[in-house]
Formats: sequence, C-alpha cells, structure tokens
Amino acid sequence: MFRDTPVSATILLAALALTPVLHAPEAAAEMKPAAAPLIIGHRGASGYRPEHTLESYSLAIVQGADFIEPDLVATRDGVLIARHENEISGTTDVAEKFPDRKRIKMIDGQQVTGWFTEDLTLAEIKMLRAKERLDFRDQSHNGKFEVPTFEEVIDLALAKSRETGRAIGIYPETKHPTYLDSIGLSLEEPLVAALRAKGLDRADAPVFIQSFETANLKQLNGMTAVKLVQLMEAADRQPYDFVVAGDERTYGDLVTPQGLREIATYADGIGPYKRLIVPEGENKALKSPTNLVADAHAAGLLVHPYTFRNEAQYLARDYGGDPAAEYRQFFELGVDGLFSDFPDTAVAAREAWRKAVTQ
Ligand code: G3P
Ligand code: CA
Repeated sequence: MFRDTPVSATILLAALALTPVLHAPEAAAEMKPAAAPLIIGHRGASGYRPEHTLESYSLAIVQGADFIEPDLVATRDGVLIARHENEISGTTDVAEKFPDRKRIKMIDGQQVTGWFTEDLTLAEIKMLRAKERLDFRDQSHNGKFEVPTFEEVIDLALAKSRETGRAIGIYPETKHPTYLDSIGLSLEEPLVAALRAKGLDRADAPVFIQSFETANLKQLNGMTAVKLVQLMEAADRQPYDFVVAGDERTYGDLVTPQGLREIATYADGIGPYKRLIVPEGENKALKSPTNLVADAHAAGLLVHPYTFRNEAQYLARDYGGDPAAEYRQFFELGVDGLFSDFPDTAVAAREAWRKAVTQ
C-alpha cells in the first residue's frame, strides 16, 4: 500500500501512469495511461456546462481530462448522487419542482436555508434538471440535464475508457461526511461498495477518493485499497471533524512537515487550495511560493491543487489575464495534477509546457 510505505511522489506517479485500465483486464493492452501532471475535470468541464452532469463530465473527457471529479452527497433513500453540496437550489430547479420542501438546517456549523438532497428520494431527484450556478457562465443548458448517480458517473468513465482507449479516472469527493453520518446517511460504505461492484476497489485503479475532513479518510483507509487524498482549505480554517472533536488544529497545521507526515499514514496525496502553494497578497499580486510541494513530496504524498479557472476575476494580477501562465507556474513547481473547470485550457497548457521543457 502506498500510504503504508511512503515513497517518492515520482514513484507514485509512475505507478499511476502505468495503470492502464479502468475496468476490463482484456482491454489493458489498448488503454493509454494517463499523462502527468494529471488534469482533473473539476465537476466535469464546469466552465462550459452545468456542473456535475453527465454532459459536463463527457465534455471534460472530450477535452482530454485524465480524471473526472464527482462531489458526492446522499438522497433520502441512501443513493449517492453527484452534487457539490446537499443544498441544491443553486444548481437545480428543485425550488420550482418541490416548493414545499424548503427547510432550515444546521450544516457543518452553519445555518442553511434551502432544499436538501436528504429530503428527496432518488426518484424525486431524477425529476430535477440542472442549472448553471454562476451567472457569468453559459445559461443556455439550464433545464436540460439530470442529476447523475455515482453509479452513472462510474459507468460513463468505463464506457468512455473503452470508447477512447484512454483510462478515464474518477476522483470522488465525500461532501459533508460528518453531517450525513449524523442523519444515518453515511457515504463511505455505499462509495466503497459502488467501486467494488465495478472492480475498482484496487490500489492500482485510476481512482482517488478525496475529502476536506480527516476522520472519514482514516476510516476509508481501513475499508478500501483505493488511493486517498486529503483536501486542504485556507490555512486558518479547520476540517469540520476537528471542530466536532474539539481538535483546535487548522489546515495550517496540516501543511507543516509534521502534519504532512501524519497525513501520509492514511492518505496518498493532498489536494491543497492553490494559495497554500502560491500565496496571493494585496491587489491580487502573487507572493513567493511556499515549500508545500517539496514538503509533501518528501512525505511521499502526491500534490493536486485546486481550482484553476480561466475567467479574469479568478486570475492573479501576475498572469496578465493568461490562464496558461498560471498552469505553467504550477507545473514548474512540480505539482502532480490539478483541478480545472476548463480542461481544454489545462490540457493545452500542459502540452505547451511539455514541449518547452523537452526542447
Ligand atoms: O475537490 C477539489 C476541489 O473540488 C475542492 O473544492 O469546493 O470545488 O469541492 P470544491
Ligand atoms: Ca470537489
């Protein structure tokens, strides 16, 4: 197991790159391994399609993403579905379809008003249609696409792997694990069961499970052979399971060499907020990079930062409005992959960077 015997990130990456199949052993010879650094289609190709729909994931694959990223929550009847949060009025037409289901709840210590996946059955979820979350992105696909189940996302990756001859990986994230546990809708068991049912509960499968919380990753370390990634928010924030447990440590404590060595006991990589690698100062001006990539690699951990976006409002001043400049900086800093809303831009930047470094 990678996480039980920390090795260099280079070896880990080589092991992943040599993983040729998502599912059928007989197809191994024809499958192309994923390129490095990995491009992870963040919520699919969410810069172009409503996030977490099969159409968004399919476009990410067409654009060359190596992995597609479903965030996972649960329905009232315990089915895993792809949504960024359990409150779904921002990304679906639930308010129009089920006006009487509006509720006020405490979720991860915050009061949230809206419509929640745990109050709808899968049959009801399937009556909804997705809509674009951000008003400055394309609204023309609103009302067209279903909310997919995790099983449907896996099946899409399997089918596209066979169709393209590329191993399309999946990168599921458990959302609100402590909260969903507390209402009897634990995510971890159905997640592992779904992977196992498709022959993907293997250390060499092109699958990473990620979470901002720590306790569920430690639990998963004893449940599955699949690679695990500890997500990290800004340094002053805390994993919600730490808050519940009265553990005062922050993500800032987890990015220290000591914190990284602890993560390496249960995970294979980290997924840091990109500003933990390249901090930003006043007026969106970048500061010198931190040692996080080198420190994580020294602990035997892969590094997959998030989230890369094309729009000017997300770009630091130093990039001069060119998203390729941001990708280049992170590739040069040695990241092993990254999450992008625009996989086509990320893949093109990777190709340009590769050509430049091999000349
Ligand atoms: O999982 C990596 C990245 O997706 C984390 O941010 O909030 O988009 O899930 P979020
Ligand atoms: Ca995510």
